[in-house]
Parts: sequence; structure tokens; C-alpha cells
Amino acid sequence: MEMSPEPVGETVPEPSVRPTSDETAVPLPVPLPAPMPGEPPVGLRVARVPVSGMYVALTFDDGPSPATTPQALEILRRNGAHGTFFVTGANASRHQALLARMAAEGHEIGVHSWTHAQLTRCSAAKVDHEIADTAEVICRATGQAPKLMRPPYGATNAALNKRMMADYGLRTILWDVDTLDWRHPGVQRVIDTAVGKARPGSIILVHDIHASTIAALEGIVQGLQARGFKLVTVSQLIALSRSGAEPPATSPAALPAAEPAAPEQLLPPAESSGAASIGAPPAVAAPTGVGEAELTGAAEGGAGIRGEQKAD
Ligand code: NI
Repeated sequence: MEMSPEPVGETVPEPSVRPTSDETAVPLPVPLPAPMPGEPPVGLRVARVPVSGMYVALTFDDGPSPATTPQALEILRRNGAHGTFFVTGANASRHQALLARMAAEGHEIGVHSWTHAQLTRCSAAKVDHEIADTAEVICRATGQAPKLMRPPYGATNAALNKRMMADYGLRTILWDVDTLDWRHPGVQRVIDTAVGKARPGSIILVHDIHASTIAALEGIVQGLQARGFKLVTVSQLIALSRSGAEPPATSPAALPAAEPAAPEQLLPPAESSGAASIGAPPAVAAPTGVGEAELTGAAEGGAGIRGEQKAD
């Protein structure tokens, strides 16, 4: 982890315990651990969360699909697991009852753009449609504003990450375990990747629009549980972070630029590439001086090099 030598100016005063999941009314599996002195905050862009316990987040992209998403929900329900669904506005607007069911069953819903656009190539107005309109659908269907977004293809940059939080209150969520399920490598392969590569705090990427992924899902969930992992939502994972959750950062002074803007999404995924996260004010009354921090392990471009235009 690297700490920025540049102190950030303003610390937003907030209660020291502020689980990001309280908006979803999902009880945390365990009490929040006390933040440890010197721990950096969770960044604006997260691919893995530093947690002490055996927790992972399973994330589902590109849905919902009436053909496959209900099966995913049933598998999660009967195994006592919770997931996070990054939905497209195009699908979500047509299947709002599925969103309501997700929320009612304790899952989290995040924004995955409206048309699955590569946001780094969109105009500001296009980005606004892709994000704001999708967030509005989620809000309308569930009564809850989303807190997370996942950029299609993992394509993002520092400016986008800042804008997502500043303009929409959305933290950018990537992943550190990519099952590549959209390539249909075989059910057992998908299971083995998800279960075998998971570490505490991992964010695992699958897609709930593929029948082959549904076929693998129970094996994934039960395999992770057999390793001792509890499957929680991304916001719950963040709340379990060793550094604790922190409120959204809105001050530009609190948002140091950390990432090169351009073509990193074209880099191959690398588990320990040390993709930088951007620090936001810590939740506790810490001295000003907590800046950017490396918290995550995945290349943000996992998907960017796939050359495919429909997955992630
Ligand atoms: Ni996608």
C-alpha cells in the first residue's frame, strides 16, 4: 500500500461507524471491525477489499434476464448467499420486478450503464444518460438509490471514477477474480476459477445472463462456502474493510488523481498489478493526511482486452 505524501484537505465529519449497506437494510453479518490506525480508506475504485475475515462478493453483470436471473436468485436464496447485480438500464427497465425481488431478498443492485457502453469513449452527455437513467430505474424499482457502478469492459479512468462519485454518488467497482464465464469454458472450469482464485475480500465476476453460468452457480456458491467464505454484497464487503467505510467524497480536494487516464483498460488482467485506488476521507476522525491508497489487486481492464462486445 502506498500513502500519498499529499495531504488531502477536508475530512467530512461522519459517525465513525457508517455501514454503506444501511441503505439496503441488509443486516451486516458481523459487527463492523474497528478501523485500524493507519489503514487507508476504501478508494473510489475498488477491485478487492482488504478484509480480515473470510468474506467475498459474488457479482453478476449484464442482467437482469427473465430466463436466467430468477434461477440465480433461487440458488442464492437456498444457499443463504447474497450477491450484487450490476444491471443495464435497458434490461432493468423491462424487468423491474426482478430488481424488486433482488432488493427484497437482500441483494445489492448497481449500475452497469444503460446500453453497455464503453464509458471512456462517451461524451459527458452520453455518460449522464447511461448512468443517471439507469440509477433512476433502480431507484424506481427498489426505492433505493444505488451506491455502486461497474463500468462495462472494466473501462474507466481517474476522471470517470471521480465523476461517478461526485455526480452520482457511485463507487466504481471492478473485480479481482474473473471467471471468464462469457467464453463458456465449461461449467467445472468456471466453478474452479471462482472458487480457486478467491481470497478474502475478493470480488468475483460472473454474468447472470448465461445458462452455463447458472449451471455453475451452485457449485461456485457451495465451493466458496466449503472454503469457509461467506458471500456478502459489495457494500457489505466494503463495510467490513479493515479501514472501515467512509462517506462519499465530494470535495475535489479530497480526490487526488492517481490513475493514468488512458489505455490501462487495454492491459491484460494481472492479479497483483496494484491498480491504484483513490482515497476518500476516512470515516474516523483521522488527521488530514490520508490520501490515495492501493487497495486493490486487479487490473481494471480485465474485460477491455477481450475484444468481445457483450460480456463483462
Ligand atoms: Ni458487462
